[in-house]
Amino acid sequence: MKKVTKAVFPVAGLGTRFLPATKASAKEMMPVMDKPLIQYAVEEAYGAGIRSMVFINGRNKRAIEDHFDNAPELEQELRNKGKTEVLQRVREIIPEHMSCIYLRQAAPLGLGNAVLCAEPTVDDEPFAVLLADDLFETGSDAGNCVADLISIHEEYDASVVAVEEVGREDVGKYGIVSGEEIKERMWRVNSLVEKPAPESTVGNLAVMGRYVLKPEIFDLLRNIPRGVGGEIQLTDAINEAVKCGKVMAYRYRGRRHDCGNKLGYLMANVETALRDPHLGEAFRDYLRKLKV
Ligand code: G1P
Repeated sequence: MKKVTKAVFPVAGLGTRFLPATKASAKEMMPVMDKPLIQYAVEEAYGAGIRSMVFINGRNKRAIEDHFDNAPELEQELRNKGKTEVLQRVREIIPEHMSCIYLRQAAPLGLGNAVLCAEPTVDDEPFAVLLADDLFETGSDAGNCVADLISIHEEYDASVVAVEEVGREDVGKYGIVSGEEIKERMWRVNSLVEKPAPESTVGNLAVMGRYVLKPEIFDLLRNIPRGVGGEIQLTDAINEAVKCGKVMAYRYRGRRHDCGNKLGYLMANVETALRDPHLGEAFRDYLRKLKV
Protein backbone atom coordinates (compact mmCIF):
# COMPACT_ATOMS: atom_id res chain seq x y z
CA MET A 1 0.00 0.00 0.00
CA LYS A 2 1.27 3.48 -0.87
CA LYS A 3 2.02 5.81 2.02
CA VAL A 4 0.40 9.18 2.66
CA THR A 5 3.20 11.66 1.90
CA LYS A 6 1.24 14.79 0.90
CA ALA A 7 -1.25 17.09 2.53
CA VAL A 8 -3.53 19.36 0.51
CA PHE A 9 -4.63 22.69 1.96
CA PRO A 10 -7.43 24.39 0.05
CA VAL A 11 -6.80 28.08 0.80
CA ALA A 12 -8.55 29.83 -2.06
CA GLY A 13 -11.72 30.80 -0.18
CA LEU A 14 -12.72 34.46 -0.12
CA GLY A 15 -13.13 34.58 3.65
CA THR A 16 -16.17 36.83 3.30
CA ARG A 17 -17.23 36.30 6.93
CA PHE A 18 -14.08 38.05 8.09
CA LEU A 19 -14.09 41.02 5.74
CA PRO A 20 -12.58 43.57 5.89
CA ALA A 21 -9.74 41.64 7.63
CA THR A 22 -9.51 39.27 4.67
CA LYS A 23 -9.64 41.87 1.92
CA ALA A 24 -5.94 41.59 1.05
CA SER A 25 -4.94 38.39 2.83
CA ALA A 26 -6.20 34.81 3.02
CA LYS A 27 -8.46 33.94 5.96
CA GLU A 28 -6.05 31.09 6.76
CA MET A 29 -3.49 33.77 7.72
CA MET A 30 -5.69 35.04 10.57
CA PRO A 31 -3.83 34.42 13.83
CA VAL A 32 -4.96 32.44 16.83
CA MET A 33 -2.76 33.99 19.51
CA ASP A 34 0.45 34.49 17.56
CA LYS A 35 0.29 31.84 14.84
CA PRO A 36 -1.81 31.90 11.67
CA LEU A 37 -4.44 29.19 11.26
CA ILE A 38 -2.59 27.67 8.32
CA GLN A 39 0.50 27.11 10.47
CA TYR A 40 -1.48 25.05 12.98
CA ALA A 41 -2.79 22.87 10.13
CA VAL A 42 0.67 22.47 8.56
CA GLU A 43 2.11 21.53 11.97
CA GLU A 44 -0.62 18.91 12.41
CA ALA A 45 0.20 17.38 9.00
CA TYR A 46 3.95 17.49 9.74
CA GLY A 47 3.31 15.87 13.12
CA ALA A 48 1.54 13.06 11.26
CA GLY A 49 4.72 12.40 9.25
CA ILE A 50 3.76 14.32 6.10
CA ARG A 51 6.54 16.38 4.51
CA SER A 52 5.01 17.72 1.26
CA MET A 53 2.46 20.46 1.76
CA VAL A 54 0.33 21.36 -1.26
CA PHE A 55 -1.51 24.69 -1.08
CA ILE A 56 -4.38 25.36 -3.45
CA ASN A 57 -4.38 29.12 -3.74
CA GLY A 58 -6.73 31.63 -5.18
CA ARG A 59 -6.02 35.34 -5.23
CA ASN A 60 -4.43 36.69 -2.02
CA LYS A 61 -1.90 33.91 -2.13
CA ARG A 62 1.20 35.93 -1.34
CA ALA A 63 1.00 35.99 2.42
CA ILE A 64 0.85 32.18 2.67
CA GLU A 65 3.82 31.70 0.33
CA ASP A 66 5.81 34.31 2.21
CA HIS A 67 4.93 32.76 5.55
CA PHE A 68 6.41 29.39 4.55
CA ASP A 69 9.46 30.93 2.90
CA ASN A 70 12.82 31.83 4.42
CA ALA A 71 13.12 35.40 5.65
CA PRO A 72 16.90 36.01 5.81
CA GLU A 73 16.65 39.77 6.56
CA LEU A 74 14.16 39.23 9.37
CA GLU A 75 16.25 36.42 10.84
CA GLN A 76 19.43 38.53 10.67
CA GLU A 77 17.66 41.41 12.37
CA LEU A 78 16.43 39.15 15.18
CA ARG A 79 19.94 37.66 15.55
CA ASN A 80 21.47 41.16 15.75
CA LYS A 81 19.02 42.12 18.45
CA GLY A 82 19.65 38.91 20.41
CA LYS A 83 15.99 37.87 20.14
CA THR A 84 16.88 34.20 20.07
CA GLU A 85 13.56 32.82 21.30
CA VAL A 86 11.47 34.52 18.66
CA LEU A 87 14.14 33.72 16.04
CA GLN A 88 13.72 30.06 16.94
CA ARG A 89 9.93 30.32 16.53
CA VAL A 90 10.35 31.95 13.11
CA ARG A 91 12.73 29.19 12.04
CA GLU A 92 10.34 26.49 13.25
CA ILE A 93 7.77 27.58 10.66
CA ILE A 94 9.77 25.61 8.08
CA PRO A 95 10.91 22.43 9.82
CA GLU A 96 13.47 20.06 8.38
CA HIS A 97 12.67 18.28 5.11
CA MET A 98 9.36 20.09 4.62
CA SER A 99 8.56 21.21 1.09
CA CYS A 100 5.73 23.42 -0.09
CA ILE A 101 4.00 23.32 -3.44
CA TYR A 102 1.64 26.09 -4.56
CA LEU A 103 -1.06 25.51 -7.11
CA ARG A 104 -3.71 27.87 -8.33
CA GLN A 105 -7.43 27.20 -8.37
CA ALA A 106 -8.45 29.09 -11.48
CA ALA A 107 -12.14 29.55 -10.63
CA PRO A 108 -14.04 29.49 -7.33
CA LEU A 109 -15.78 26.19 -8.03
CA GLY A 110 -15.74 24.89 -4.48
CA LEU A 111 -13.84 22.51 -2.22
CA GLY A 112 -14.14 19.52 -4.56
CA ASN A 113 -12.65 21.50 -7.41
CA ALA A 114 -9.84 22.76 -5.13
CA VAL A 115 -8.92 19.18 -4.22
CA LEU A 116 -9.02 18.17 -7.90
CA CYS A 117 -6.43 20.90 -8.60
CA ALA A 118 -3.96 18.86 -6.49
CA GLU A 119 -4.11 15.85 -8.82
CA PRO A 120 -0.94 16.64 -10.84
CA THR A 121 1.18 16.60 -7.65
CA VAL A 122 -0.60 13.86 -5.74
CA ASP A 123 -1.02 11.53 -8.72
CA ASP A 124 -1.87 7.97 -7.60
CA GLU A 125 -1.11 8.21 -3.88
CA PRO A 126 -3.48 8.50 -0.95
CA PHE A 127 -3.32 11.99 0.54
CA ALA A 128 -4.59 14.11 3.42
CA VAL A 129 -6.81 17.19 3.12
CA LEU A 130 -6.86 19.78 5.90
CA LEU A 131 -9.24 22.74 6.06
CA ALA A 132 -7.27 25.24 8.09
CA ASP A 133 -10.28 27.13 9.43
CA ASP A 134 -11.12 23.98 11.37
CA LEU A 135 -8.48 24.23 14.08
CA PHE A 136 -7.85 20.85 15.69
CA GLU A 137 -6.23 20.53 19.08
CA THR A 138 -3.19 18.29 19.16
CA GLY A 139 -1.25 16.95 22.11
CA SER A 140 -1.36 14.27 24.75
CA ASP A 141 -5.14 13.81 25.10
CA ALA A 142 -6.13 15.02 21.64
CA GLY A 143 -3.43 13.08 19.78
CA ASN A 144 -3.14 14.12 16.14
CA CYS A 145 -6.27 13.77 14.02
CA VAL A 146 -4.43 13.40 10.71
CA ALA A 147 -2.12 10.73 12.17
CA ASP A 148 -5.19 8.82 13.39
CA LEU A 149 -6.85 9.08 9.96
CA ILE A 150 -3.69 7.75 8.31
CA SER A 151 -3.59 4.72 10.64
CA ILE A 152 -7.25 3.95 9.90
CA HIS A 153 -6.64 4.33 6.16
CA GLU A 154 -3.75 1.86 6.43
CA GLU A 155 -5.77 -0.61 8.49
CA TYR A 156 -8.92 -0.61 6.30
CA ASP A 157 -7.48 0.43 2.93
CA ALA A 158 -10.25 3.04 2.85
CA SER A 159 -10.77 6.78 2.56
CA VAL A 160 -11.46 8.26 5.99
CA VAL A 161 -13.26 11.41 7.13
CA ALA A 162 -13.10 13.02 10.57
CA VAL A 163 -16.51 13.48 12.21
CA GLU A 164 -18.17 14.91 15.28
CA GLU A 165 -21.79 14.90 16.46
CA VAL A 166 -23.44 18.33 16.10
CA GLY A 167 -26.74 19.77 17.31
CA ARG A 168 -29.74 19.34 14.94
CA GLU A 169 -29.76 23.10 14.37
CA ASP A 170 -26.25 22.89 12.89
CA VAL A 171 -26.70 19.91 10.57
CA GLY A 172 -27.23 22.22 7.56
CA LYS A 173 -23.73 23.70 7.93
CA TYR A 174 -21.83 20.48 7.29
CA GLY A 175 -21.37 17.34 5.25
CA ILE A 176 -23.37 14.72 7.16
CA VAL A 177 -22.42 11.04 7.35
CA SER A 178 -24.75 8.07 7.76
CA GLY A 179 -23.21 4.73 8.56
CA GLU A 180 -22.87 1.72 10.81
CA GLU A 181 -20.91 2.10 13.99
CA ILE A 182 -18.38 -0.73 13.89
CA LYS A 183 -16.54 0.12 17.08
CA GLU A 184 -15.97 3.00 19.44
CA ARG A 185 -15.29 6.18 17.43
CA MET A 186 -15.57 4.38 14.05
CA TRP A 187 -18.27 4.09 11.42
CA ARG A 188 -18.42 2.41 8.08
CA VAL A 189 -20.01 5.09 5.93
CA ASN A 190 -23.13 4.31 3.86
CA SER A 191 -23.75 7.79 2.51
CA LEU A 192 -22.80 11.43 2.82
CA VAL A 193 -24.85 14.49 2.07
CA GLU A 194 -23.59 18.05 1.88
CA LYS A 195 -25.47 20.63 3.96
CA PRO A 196 -28.81 18.80 4.18
CA ALA A 197 -32.04 20.79 4.46
CA PRO A 198 -33.33 21.27 8.05
CA GLU A 199 -36.29 18.94 7.45
CA SER A 200 -34.02 16.13 6.23
CA THR A 201 -33.86 13.02 8.39
CA VAL A 202 -30.13 12.33 8.11
CA GLY A 203 -28.28 11.98 11.40
CA ASN A 204 -26.03 14.50 13.08
CA LEU A 205 -22.58 13.09 12.41
CA ALA A 206 -20.81 16.01 10.74
CA VAL A 207 -17.66 15.90 8.64
CA MET A 208 -15.04 18.26 10.03
CA GLY A 209 -12.14 19.50 7.95
CA ARG A 210 -9.79 16.50 7.98
CA TYR A 211 -9.76 13.76 5.36
CA VAL A 212 -7.47 11.01 4.09
CA LEU A 213 -8.53 10.16 0.57
CA LYS A 214 -7.63 7.46 -1.89
CA PRO A 215 -6.57 8.83 -5.29
CA GLU A 216 -9.68 7.37 -6.98
CA ILE A 217 -11.41 10.50 -5.66
CA PHE A 218 -9.94 12.51 -8.55
CA ASP A 219 -11.92 10.63 -11.23
CA LEU A 220 -15.06 11.00 -9.16
CA LEU A 221 -14.45 14.73 -8.69
CA ARG A 222 -14.00 15.16 -12.43
CA ASN A 223 -17.33 13.50 -13.16
CA ILE A 224 -19.78 14.64 -10.49
CA PRO A 225 -22.22 17.44 -11.29
CA ARG A 226 -22.20 20.67 -9.33
CA GLY A 227 -23.91 20.33 -5.98
CA VAL A 228 -24.98 22.65 -3.14
CA GLY A 229 -24.28 26.30 -3.94
CA GLY A 230 -23.49 25.44 -7.57
CA GLU A 231 -20.07 24.16 -6.44
CA ILE A 232 -18.19 20.89 -6.95
CA GLN A 233 -18.60 19.36 -3.51
CA LEU A 234 -15.95 17.07 -2.02
CA THR A 235 -18.72 15.44 0.04
CA ASP A 236 -20.57 14.40 -3.15
CA ALA A 237 -17.45 12.75 -4.58
CA ILE A 238 -16.81 10.87 -1.30
CA ASN A 239 -20.45 9.74 -1.43
CA GLU A 240 -19.70 8.27 -4.87
CA ALA A 241 -16.57 6.61 -3.43
CA VAL A 242 -18.81 4.77 -0.95
CA LYS A 243 -20.41 2.97 -3.91
CA CYS A 244 -17.01 1.77 -5.18
CA GLY A 245 -15.40 0.75 -1.90
CA LYS A 246 -14.96 1.40 1.76
CA VAL A 247 -15.17 4.83 3.36
CA MET A 248 -14.72 5.15 7.11
CA ALA A 249 -15.65 7.92 9.53
CA TYR A 250 -13.65 8.56 12.67
CA ARG A 251 -14.71 10.55 15.74
CA TYR A 252 -11.44 12.28 16.61
CA ARG A 253 -10.21 12.43 20.17
CA GLY A 254 -9.49 16.12 20.68
CA ARG A 255 -11.51 19.25 20.17
CA ARG A 256 -11.99 21.24 17.02
CA HIS A 257 -12.58 24.97 16.90
CA ASP A 258 -14.66 26.39 14.08
CA CYS A 259 -12.50 29.35 13.11
CA GLY A 260 -14.57 29.91 9.97
CA ASN A 261 -17.00 32.03 11.98
CA LYS A 262 -16.36 34.92 14.33
CA LEU A 263 -17.62 33.35 17.54
CA GLY A 264 -15.67 30.11 17.04
CA TYR A 265 -12.58 32.13 16.12
CA LEU A 266 -12.86 34.26 19.27
CA MET A 267 -13.34 31.16 21.43
CA ALA A 268 -10.24 29.54 19.91
CA ASN A 269 -8.24 32.66 20.73
CA VAL A 270 -9.52 32.86 24.30
CA GLU A 271 -8.84 29.20 25.01
CA THR A 272 -5.40 29.30 23.42
CA ALA A 273 -4.52 32.43 25.39
CA LEU A 274 -5.74 30.90 28.66
CA ARG A 275 -3.46 27.91 28.10
CA ASP A 276 -0.45 30.03 27.20
CA PRO A 277 2.35 29.47 29.73
CA HIS A 278 3.40 33.16 29.68
CA LEU A 279 0.09 34.99 29.30
CA GLY A 280 -2.48 32.52 30.60
CA GLU A 281 -2.56 33.60 34.21
CA ALA A 282 -2.68 37.34 33.53
CA PHE A 283 -5.36 36.83 30.88
CA ARG A 284 -7.50 34.71 33.23
CA ASP A 285 -7.17 37.37 35.87
CA TYR A 286 -8.18 40.04 33.36
CA LEU A 287 -11.25 38.04 32.26
CA ARG A 288 -12.32 37.47 35.85
CA LYS A 289 -12.31 41.18 36.58
CA LEU A 290 -13.82 42.23 33.27
CA LYS A 291 -17.06 44.17 33.51
CA VAL A 292 -18.42 45.00 30.06
C1 G1P B 1 -16.80 22.30 4.22
C2 G1P B 1 -17.33 20.98 3.64
C3 G1P B 1 -18.30 20.33 4.64
C4 G1P B 1 -17.62 20.15 5.98
C5 G1P B 1 -17.09 21.51 6.49
C6 G1P B 1 -16.27 21.33 7.75
O1 G1P B 1 -17.87 23.20 4.28
O2 G1P B 1 -17.96 21.22 2.41
O3 G1P B 1 -18.70 19.07 4.13
O4 G1P B 1 -18.54 19.60 6.89
O5 G1P B 1 -16.23 22.12 5.51
O6 G1P B 1 -15.87 22.55 8.28
P1 G1P B 1 -17.66 24.81 4.43
O7 G1P B 1 -17.40 25.05 5.89
O8 G1P B 1 -16.49 25.17 3.57
O9 G1P B 1 -18.93 25.42 3.97
